[in-house]
Amino acid sequence: MGRFHLQQLTVDMNINWTPVIAATVCGTGALYLFSKWRNNQKIQKKILNARKRRDNSLQQAELAVQQFKIQNPDFKSSSIVSLSLPELTGKLKDGSLQPDAVLYAFMEKALEVNKTLNCSTEIIMESVAQLKDISTQKKGLLYGVPISIKDNVAYESHDTSCGVVSKLDQPALMDSVMVTVLKKQGAIPFIRTNIPQGLLNYDCGNPIFGQTLNPYNLQKTPGGSSGGEGALIGGGGSILGIGTDIGGSVRIPASFCGICAFKPTSKRLSLQGISSCVRGQKSVLSSAGPLGRDVESVALCMQALLCQDMFSLDPTVPPIPFNQEVYESSEPLRIGYYENDGYLQSSPSMARAVRETKDLLEKAGHTLVPFQPLQLYHSFHELAIKGIYSDGGRTLFCHLKEGPIDPCLCGQDTVIGTPGFIKKSVEELWRLHENIELYIQEVIAEWRRLNVDVLLCPILGPAYNFRYCGKLGSVLSNTGLYNLLNFPAGVVPVSTVTEEDEAQLSHYKGVHGDVWDKLFVKAVKGGVGLPVAVQCVSLPWQDEMCLRFMREVEQLTAKNKLARKH
Ligand SMILES: *[C@@H]1O[C@H](CO)[C@@H](O)[C@H](O)[C@H]1NC(C)=O
Ligand SMILES: *[C@@H]1O[C@H](CO)[C@@H](O)[C@H](O)[C@H]1NC(C)=O
Repeated sequence: MGRFHLQQLTVDMNINWTPVIAATVCGTGALYLFSKWRNNQKIQKKILNARKRRDNSLQQAELAVQQFKIQNPDFKSSSIVSLSLPELTGKLKDGSLQPDAVLYAFMEKALEVNKTLNCSTEIIMESVAQLKDISTQKKGLLYGVPISIKDNVAYESHDTSCGVVSKLDQPALMDSVMVTVLKKQGAIPFIRTNIPQGLLNYDCGNPIFGQTLNPYNLQKTPGGSSGGEGALIGGGGSILGIGTDIGGSVRIPASFCGICAFKPTSKRLSLQGISSCVRGQKSVLSSAGPLGRDVESVALCMQALLCQDMFSLDPTVPPIPFNQEVYESSEPLRIGYYENDGYLQSSPSMARAVRETKDLLEKAGHTLVPFQPLQLYHSFHELAIKGIYSDGGRTLFCHLKEGPIDPCLCGQDTVIGTPGFIKKSVEELWRLHENIELYIQEVIAEWRRLNVDVLLCPILGPAYNFRYCGKLGSVLSNTGLYNLLNFPAGVVPVSTVTEEDEAQLSHYKGVHGDVWDKLFVKAVKGGVGLPVAVQCVSLPWQDEMCLRFMREVEQLTAKNKLARKH
């Protein structure tokens, strides 16, 4: 069966679009947009103003850190920023660390990390004001913990730019529910992080704030769309962050940057005040979710968020508190697993990660059952892609057309800007939604038939070289499947790319053996030493089960590393 993109598009558009024209990356659509932009002084001014706001906040933050250091000559940020989240919350609670010292320690580290990685869009200077009455939140689960938030998560009086000019100069009127609840739990949002233009991409560059780089290798992308979070946390400048995920957007940066991330069941966490460039798209659901250095951090964040405050502030969120019992359970699990999803052949390192993790789980007493995702071609092309672009890409295009197109969208822009791309009638859209429901039921039936509690799956990676994400939308089957199904899914780092993994890339054929499989090899080449991860999945609303499984994987991996050392 031929693969999406060119063949598929030609059919969808009824245009005889030869592959050569189609593959002219950053093609005519982009050039047209670019020339239009060049004459538009207003847009340039908007961009410059946004950068000015960023740079002003940077200067203020540098000054504030300096002043704190003068007043506290004994202050050493390195001993604070290297703590784990449980250690940090413990020290804040027992008073051996003060919230101001912790905030300035992370501010200093974040500024340093950003200098090389370009991952921040603004320092939130209101964080300093928040210190004044932070003592009233002493009981909060995140009391005094500085956190980072992705650009599209609303914070009062700041833009949620989504990387597009059309959303600049529209400061949020109030905090998003997520930010409100986190603040009530004592967290201090202190920095906003970068995203790809329009958010519907898994790179991390836009014409306003530039390109973010990978903390492990500056020649690589941090992934996206929560790429600023991935880079900042992976680089050590934040201990906990909030991202969003509609096709892999917290999981891919976690995989690329060597950290953990969790995409809950959609609507388990409030989406009120979270900005998007495809608002109204209901076929594939988006989730907000945490990113952190370890599973315990993302689980603690979930626990903090799933509280009465969130259920009252956003009554559309089901009032299901965090189930500590499920999270802490150590009952043996029945675990379905696959190394390749039948659509994207995993890179050698990511396939090895699944095999090794499977062995560790089996040795620890769990039952491992081979599992194969159902009809992935159908679910990916006919359901997910057609769902996300059921308006013909028009809504996204409207946001993009006002500004220059970022190079990280190369390959994707030509598709989005083409009139008539995939557009559906209401009847067709209804049928699509029916088919998605049927597909979900089939997959759940397969889980029941095999009697599995969770799945162990590959995740996209290792981190790409620049300029491949826009061209390789077709590899998102790994992650996008679990948005389509609305199953919780998380990522845990387990290894790093070895010389042998790298050598095996030369034998990589791919499932299709087509131009995209070849591009994929080029994208992941040169990855020795980069983080390698696995993906963990559970059934809808069983978020705690997924987190528990992630913790198990993390602990077994750590134990195994220790045993190998001795
Ligand atoms: C982040 O780093 C970039 C590049 O060095 C710089 O232009 C920008 O002002 C920095 N932003 C913040 C908020 O520190
Ligand atoms: C960061 O982004 C700015 C655009 O705001 C760009 O000029 C600069 O070169 C980027 N820095 C790095 C290190 O990529």
